Parts: sequence; structure tokens; C-alpha cells
Amino acid sequence: MSHITVRRAFKEALESLPSQYLYLGKRDALLLAKEGEVIYPIALLPKKGGIIIKVQRGGHFLDQVSLANVLLSTAENLKGKVLQSTVPARIHPKPTPLQYVTPRVWLEKGKVYGLLGEIGPLLVEVGFGNGEFLEGLINPDRRVVGIEISNWSIRKALGRLRGRDSYIILKAPGAWALRWLFPKGSIDTLYILFPFPWPKKPARRMVQAPFLDVVSRVLNEGGKIVLATDHLEYARDIGSLFMGSPIFQGIHPPMELNTKYLRKWTSQGLKIYKMAYRKAGNGSICEKEDETETLLCYPLEVSIPDPQALWQGFSSWGFPLPQGGYFKVESCLYCPVRKTLLFTTVLQDPDLCLHHTFLFWEKGVMDILSTWGEVITHPLAQAMEKLAYRIRKGFE
Ligand SMILES: C[S@@+](CC[C@H](N)C(=O)[O-])C[C@H]1O[C@@H](n2cnc3c(N)ncnc32)[C@H](O)[C@@H]1O
Repeated sequence: MSHITVRRAFKEALESLPSQYLYLGKRDALLLAKEGEVIYPIALLPKKGGIIIKVQRGGHFLDQVSLANVLLSTAENLKGKVLQSTVPARIHPKPTPLQYVTPRVWLEKGKVYGLLGEIGPLLVEVGFGNGEFLEGLINPDRRVVGIEISNWSIRKALGRLRGRDSYIILKAPGAWALRWLFPKGSIDTLYILFPFPWPKKPARRMVQAPFLDVVSRVLNEGGKIVLATDHLEYARDIGSLFMGSPIFQGIHPPMELNTKYLRKWTSQGLKIYKMAYRKAGNGSICEKEDETETLLCYPLEVSIPDPQALWQGFSSWGFPLPQGGYFKVESCLYCPVRKTLLFTTVLQDPDLCLHHTFLFWEKGVMDILSTWGEVITHPLAQAMEKLAYRIRKGFE
């Protein structure tokens, strides 16, 4: 995560910042910076002889230029001397190519159909690495979406695909994106080639039972999933998962699956396990209602009679989610000028760990700071209701 360290006494710096947007914690502070329609929560942490400024978690979904602009302008506001920086000193703003979208742009531009038109089969690759396999998929008669979390991979792929058409790169975690951003039955072929096997932490693997639910929902009738791994145990688990499901049947995997990791592992003499499964019917394992309602703001009425007391009394609090995972408050900050509270929270669900920032403002309305096109999923909505209820009731 990018950050800047500025030489300026912490207390003095806090005094020089716009206090109505400054939230104070026990040791740190949070500044809300607005750029266009987006609010960036910026963490200010005291460091010997200086202050570390960094965009709060969630900011890693911003593109590098926005991230750097926000950090550099905050450093400028502090009028301190930059001691250390992981953001480039000079930014040359480039217009973001349409082919590179964040979840927010994806949602606002009307999902995949709005972006790519409706013609031709939809092919999706999750975790495309250097993008060479993705490049081979692109052809004017198809719609291709590559999903990645790594900035390095995205930059590499955008360079490789310069001048090409009918593709989109989506920056989001794969399982999450498939679950929340793709309509039911929309994908023709899904490729997952050499996903991380997490040998010491298999619980982190992408292809597990909950992922099978997601795949069965997003593939269309006759749609395929193609996988490859060098990891025997992962290959066996994937095999028994799909073969044990009444919805999928094994088919021959394509011979040609040339990727950087395939070459890497074969050059080391490792065996490669290629697998492919076809979705037999039109159903899905877990017939859910379409939960992809995209509320970017979720106001909730809560009255906070004594915010200062609540802030002081609020220690780490959380609860398990009915469908697995948990929701936990990480910190509670207070703005003495506006008498508002800000909560930073973590929601761990089966797919990924999400960090959020909630604001309780003057009229007692709870809002979520949408830093990267937040989708209010059902687990998150439940967590927000519960948090609001807890505040409403006080801490007796
Ligand atoms: C081992 S590399 C394989 C890259 C490429 N498929 C190949 O075969 O050369 C795994 C890739 O998956 C990406 N990745 C890991 N977790 C991911 C996730 N949850 N969502 C999307 N991409 C992910 C990583 O950034 C990395 O580029």
C-alpha cells in the first residue's frame, strides 16, 4: 500500500487540518478527503519525527494516479517535508482506459453488457498474471473479461493488449467479482489457470465449495470452466468437488493452455493437471435470489444521544455471520467539531475480507463511505443493521 511519511509534529499537523472532517482515535486520526464524488478516508499515524499518511484499506482498489494525487495533496496541505514516499514524486495523469475498470465503474456502466455489447460468447479469465493467455482469447467475435487483483499484472496486461478491442480488465478479487458483478447464466467459459494453491493455508484457496455455487450460477447452460494446476492435492480437491456435483460433468480440457506458470512448472519437470467441466443443466447449486442490488449508499436512522460517551465506551466488538465468517469493529473515531462517529470495520465472508468505514452523522444517519464502488451485499447489510441496533441500544 502506498504511503508518505511527512516531517511535522503529529499534534501540530492535526491542528492545521480541516477539523470538521478530522476524526480522532486513541492514537491515530482519520481525515476524510473528497475528490469528485469519492470520499477517501486517509489515516494519519504518528511516527517518530513525522506522520505517516496513507489511504485507508479499500484504497488499494483505486488506480495509482488517484491514490498518488490524494496522498500528495494531503502532504501538501500539511506543509511538511516529505521524508519517505512510496508514491511517485511526479504523476502524469493519464485518462484511465475504458478497458480497465474498478467495481464502481463496472456497476455504474451497467455491468458487462453495457461495456462490451451483447454480441458473442463471454469468456472470463480469473487471475490472468502477465495476460498472455488472456491476449490469446481476444477476438472481435467474443467478449473477454480478465479479472485480477495485482496492479503489476494489470499494468503488464494493459501494455500487452494496447490497441486491442472487445475486452475489459476488471480489478477485483475473482470469487467476489463473479458472485456480485456478473448476472446469472452470463458466462460461456471461465478460465482459472494456476490459482495459488496455498499449500500451508488451503482454507485460502479460491476453488472450494462456496466457489462452486458461484460458478454454477454465473455459467450459462452448457457453459465450461477450465482449470489447471501443478499442485496434486489441489487438483484432487477440485476434481472431487466438480465430479461430486450433479450439475457438472467432466470434459476434455483444451490441449493448448500456454501460460507463464505452465512453462515455469514444466521447465522444472512438474506434472500439470488440466481439468474442464461443463454445466449440464440450467440450474445452479444454490438457487439464490439475485442479490446484486447495487446500493452505493445505505442510510440508516440511528440516534446517538452522547457520541463522546459512546466513542469512549466502544471497544472492539463483533459477531459471527449466520452464513459463516464474522463482522468486527476495528476502531471507533470521534469528530469533536461535528459530533459524529466513524467506525472502521472488517467483514470476513467466505470469499474475502472486506474493510469498510461507516459514518454516523449529525442527524443520526449511518452511511457507508464508498471508496471503491462498494456493493451492499446481504451479509454487509445485516452487519450494518446490527451495528446500528447496538448503537441505538447503547452499551448496557
Ligand atoms: C500463480 S499466478 C498465475 C498467473 C497466470 N494464470 C499464469 O498461469 O501464468 C496467480 C495469479 O492469480 C492472481 N490472483 C490471486 N488471487 C486472486 C483473486 N482472488 N482474484 C483474482 N486474481 C487473483 C495473482 O495476482 C496472480 O496473477
